[in-house]
Amino acid sequence: MVSRSLPEAPRPYDLLPEVPAGDSLRPYDLRCEHLGTPLGVGAPVPRLSWRLASDRRGDAQEAYRIRVHARGALVWDSGWVEGQDVSADYGGAPLASFTRYTWRVETRPGEAAESWFETGVLHRDEWVAAWIGHDPETEPPFEPPTDDREPRSARTASLPAPRYFRRVLDLPPATAVRIACSARGLYELRVNGVRAGDGELTPGWTDYRHRVPYQVYDVTNLAGDGPVCVGAILADGWWSGSLGWDARQQAQRYGRRPQLLVQIVAEHENGSRTVVGTDGRWRESTGPLRYADLLMGEWYDARLEQPGWDLPGFGDTSWAPAGVVDTAHDVLVPSVAEPVRVTQDLVPVDVRRPGDGRTIVDLGQNIAGRVRLVLRGAPEGARVTLRHGEALDDDGGLYTANLRSAEATDHYVAAGAAVETFEPRFTVHGFRYVEVSGHADVEVLGRVLHSDTPVAGEFSCSDDMVRRLMGNIRWSQRGNFVSVPTDCPQRDERLGWTADAQVFLPTACYNADVAAFFTGWLADLRCAQTAEGAVPDVVPHVMTERHGTPGWGDAATVVPWHLYRVYGDERVLRDSLPSMRRWVDHVERHNPGLIWRDRTGSHYGDWLQAGVRTSREVMATAYFALSAELTSKAAAVVGDAAARAHYAELRSRIGEAFVRAFVSADGRVTGGTQTGYLLALAHGLVPAPLVPAAVGHLVADLEERGRRLTTGFAGVGLLGPVLSAHGHHDLAYSLLHDDRYPSWGYSIKRGATTIWERWDGWTEEGGFGPVAMNSFNHYALGSVGAWLYSGVAGIGQEEGSAGFRRPIIRPLPGGRLRWASAAYETPLGRLAGRWEVDGGTLRLDVRVPPGALATVHVPTTDPASVRESGTPLSGEAAGGALVCRVASGRYAFTAAWER
Ligand code: BGC
Repeated sequence: MVSRSLPEAPRPYDLLPEVPAGDSLRPYDLRCEHLGTPLGVGAPVPRLSWRLASDRRGDAQEAYRIRVHARGALVWDSGWVEGQDVSADYGGAPLASFTRYTWRVETRPGEAAESWFETGVLHRDEWVAAWIGHDPETEPPFEPPTDDREPRSARTASLPAPRYFRRVLDLPPATAVRIACSARGLYELRVNGVRAGDGELTPGWTDYRHRVPYQVYDVTNLAGDGPVCVGAILADGWWSGSLGWDARQQAQRYGRRPQLLVQIVAEHENGSRTVVGTDGRWRESTGPLRYADLLMGEWYDARLEQPGWDLPGFGDTSWAPAGVVDTAHDVLVPSVAEPVRVTQDLVPVDVRRPGDGRTIVDLGQNIAGRVRLVLRGAPEGARVTLRHGEALDDDGGLYTANLRSAEATDHYVAAGAAVETFEPRFTVHGFRYVEVSGHADVEVLGRVLHSDTPVAGEFSCSDDMVRRLMGNIRWSQRGNFVSVPTDCPQRDERLGWTADAQVFLPTACYNADVAAFFTGWLADLRCAQTAEGAVPDVVPHVMTERHGTPGWGDAATVVPWHLYRVYGDERVLRDSLPSMRRWVDHVERHNPGLIWRDRTGSHYGDWLQAGVRTSREVMATAYFALSAELTSKAAAVVGDAAARAHYAELRSRIGEAFVRAFVSADGRVTGGTQTGYLLALAHGLVPAPLVPAAVGHLVADLEERGRRLTTGFAGVGLLGPVLSAHGHHDLAYSLLHDDRYPSWGYSIKRGATTIWERWDGWTEEGGFGPVAMNSFNHYALGSVGAWLYSGVAGIGQEEGSAGFRRPIIRPLPGGRLRWASAAYETPLGRLAGRWEVDGGTLRLDVRVPPGALATVHVPTTDPASVRESGTPLSGEAAGGALVCRVASGRYAFTAAWER
């Protein structure tokens, strides 16, 4: 039986927290490096930030003052800083390692709020811990008991047993105990019999060649007085387990065996510290975990448990000394993002027993995660098998063909107790259905796992299908943000495909605060860039031969620029500008004629487009232009005038080359596909006089196809924004509401609970799509989500605004919708809009955060009819709306709306 603490009552995951109410200005949601109250901060000059709330109209911060204390002493007082900044870089005395800094921000006018952060290891020479692992010299290799019913398939035969490590320490009485822990592999840390922290799949996945993250835990309460037992379980994970589609042996790109590193820092009453690290005095053994693999699953034999192994009194004489395998600390980096956590539990919606001993459980939702299994009355040695799948086949059995070589199967061998509980810890599956065999009296709970990025946005509307679409998008985001942004959570892939990440990023940012999550991923992108400047197709980089792909490599420019726009943190551009430049220079070097023809790497085109072939050169060159433009803009923000001018000039020459090569005098774009037009229009590559004609050709293509889309990954997110920007709201809504193939509604009509990888994941004619590539949980086609927020509900920010300083509220009443609403937690505070059409009246409720100056477009058929809280409003009539500017606060507009 795995002893794990019981899950807390499920918390509603998708809800935005309430903003503090009241008529005075209040800072709230204080953060350090974009995280709440982080332990183990490694930045020498961390950035502190806060949001603001006030119910008073026009409220804005005039000045702020930050004071930071450590060990009772003031270490930094910013003094009063005039202005509206809602972030500041720590400016006090150099930070000390493993120290709690309490900080307080006060605003004028307004109040004060307090928070804290703690540092980790700030100087490399402070590490004393060595990397330890199983030492094959000191112990004969583990021989599992022979049992011909052992659940070892050809694929799992090579999986070694995870190792258990322990050491008992006699620490002098301590006032605070912290543990910094990392693994090349996956670890679970335990202190005196209790798991430390609630992070899963720690330390997470990064480019281990360059960066291995460590986490810090506050274990003061677990350590108590007296001897402290520190234990850890160590498994292969991304380091040495199956990865991508390679068989395990080839997949081991980082190392053959996992390694563990633990450093304990105990602080005593008089301020002195005891620091102890992993070394050859630790002991190791195998245990009930017979194997654990992210793709294959886990095998746990409860008969092999060693009760008390993680407690001080345990007799470990039969355990072997651990081997010291490395003493280098140069790759250790502080963990910069929220960990993966279990964020929700799902009670099955259906349990069927077909009568052959199997139980088929339906969680009602496709997730990334695992199950908790409760067994009653299983005899000793009974083997229970859990298989996972995203769908059922025609006979009601589990459909697993699309998992390819991922077995996604867990095994539990019972100890024979009346009630036993099993929950795997070092694997994750993408599934909705679970098949349990080997014992009938079972209960299953679904456990949802993903990077616990805070919820940042809410969208809703009057249409069930559109609401479900946003629900599916959010679930695909949760299912694929598992330490890194992946393409899919179920099959033997689960890689950080760069195009998937960049096309989905705008949607991701609306749904969740992904600032910290993508900061780490970008660090991996930068260190994986080739000497030439090519960006790999997947980050972390694991497929050495694939890089330099149009639309994929451009994540190097699109991601930092978008993060800057959303979060207003210019450091991401400072860190990324060299990499952005190297990418653009690389493409230019290979394409001196400025049309991206050269196959510098792979080319996937408009991936998974429906029935058309967008010109690859059009797509590639449009991305080249975009990347040059974003690099120029980034250089401007960073203050590099020469680079700004250089890339602006390059962008304009690419634009000219694009027009010469691909845009004809009647506004046609080579290839004539929707994605071709969308890319050209969205990225300003059609000369202004030809824009109406180009839009006309795009619209004609859609109309000729009976208002059906043909877009793949590169084009799909642009449909809504481009059509609505050019006045074709009706067409945009037709696509949104469509449920014929290919459309979002098509999958929803078939019961999809996540976004499918392909438009034809399942069809009436063909049933399941090609098994070689048919994930039911892939977010790229869900990149329409950003338009639901910024188009349909209408909350966004102006071009040129960063960090939502200048928000726009420009709703788009139309389609089948009677109302739509969105709320978003900007860096300044809450921005929200809700419109509703009732009879001949449109009502628009708006909320603007303190310090922002918002442009509101009140949609109306009669600009003279517009009122705000009953008072007539003046403004400029434009594009079917009355446009006005409002400062912070809540506003209630009404306007005539005749359709
Ligand atoms: C992945 C994608 C990825 C693509 C590139 C697929 O196998 O699942 O999402 O972008 O390959 O071709």
